[in-house]
Amino acid sequence: MARVEITTPDELPEEGGADAALRPSRLDEFVGQEGVKTSLQIAIDAARGRGESLDHILFFGPPGLGKTTLAILMAREMGVQIRTTSGPVLEKPGDLVGLLTGLGKGDILFIDEIHRLRPVLEEFLYPAMEDFRIDVRIADGPNAQTIPMAIEPFTLVGATTRFGQLTPPMRARFGIVERLNFYRPDELATIVARSATILNVPTDPEGALEVARRSRGTPRIANRLLRRVRDYAQVRAGGVITAAVAAEALARLNVDEFGLDDMDARILVTIIEKFGGGPVGLQTLGAAVSEDPGTLEEVYEPYLLQQGFLERTPRGRVATAHAYRRFGMQPPANQGTLFGG
Ligand SMILES: Nc1ncnc2c1ncn2[C@@H]1O[C@H](COP(=O)(O)OP(=O)(O)O)[C@@H](O)[C@H]1O
Ligand SMILES: [Mg+2]
Repeated sequence: MARVEITTPDELPEEGGADAALRPSRLDEFVGQEGVKTSLQIAIDAARGRGESLDHILFFGPPGLGKTTLAILMAREMGVQIRTTSGPVLEKPGDLVGLLTGLGKGDILFIDEIHRLRPVLEEFLYPAMEDFRIDVRIADGPNAQTIPMAIEPFTLVGATTRFGQLTPPMRARFGIVERLNFYRPDELATIVARSATILNVPTDPEGALEVARRSRGTPRIANRLLRRVRDYAQVRAGGVITAAVAAEALARLNVDEFGLDDMDARILVTIIEKFGGGPVGLQTLGAAVSEDPGTLEEVYEPYLLQQGFLERTPRGRVATAHAYRRFGMQPPANQGTLFGG
């Protein structure tokens, strides 16, 4: 057990304590993702009605869209405890024994980055998820023995950015599988306005929208940019975030007006400059930008596709005319016919 980190959700290292204040504390404060919220509410009401634990839930989608937040909200709505761990910190089944036996009836075990669980741990989890039973090893070596042990009915909530890396048997054990999508600017503006109120910084609706537009469809980025704009507003602009103040502050931070980050830009420029705009295969592209192809596909591409910078074709990825223009370049002649200008 020595190496296992168990954190309460409010001290997740990825954000530091400060961001906990910005997390919605009720499901109805969670902006957007209406389809996901409806399914979750139905699952909660049904489980409550039957007096049972919730089905196991898997959240997947790019980083910063609210997976961890939803796990915490599920616990709150159900009135149960939540324990948090993550795939990479778990080494051996013994690391899970203490966690699982410590859960009360209906409690939630949240496993972040669940695609990084080692196979031996996955197998250990299957009977726990299906029959609320674990097989505990009581000796090592040739006399190794396992005894079955009952645990309380619990809910496993898994989160992953890499749905494709989760093994099929693991996927099949989740009763509820929900994909989180990028947020619209108006939704992000609502999140920014709420965060601004909590941070006590006066913000115009247009100021909130300006921050929202540049946040790559991602609440975590919106909150991060808001803090930076707040600093700027405080020191240079009398403390109020207007559209002009936000635009000025973000320009100074080199935040792209489409919300693209460094890797987004690198991917597009590489396709344009090294591969003549594409098509280029995912593996080749991954090698060229030194990023794992699966991460490219599941973390970076969705936003570029949604924003119309990238197209997937049977022969590979293609940079659109929109992408060329973004980097001040002229799209090749045939691009106009491919993408309608
Ligand atoms: N739908 C939402 N409404 C309001 N705030 C959100 C929403 N989704 C995420 N956030 C904020 O964004 C931050 C990142 O969310 P998080 O749940 O940690 O994302 P993930 O686990 O998917 O990487 C949180 O601190 C939370 O304040
Ligand atoms: Mg998370």
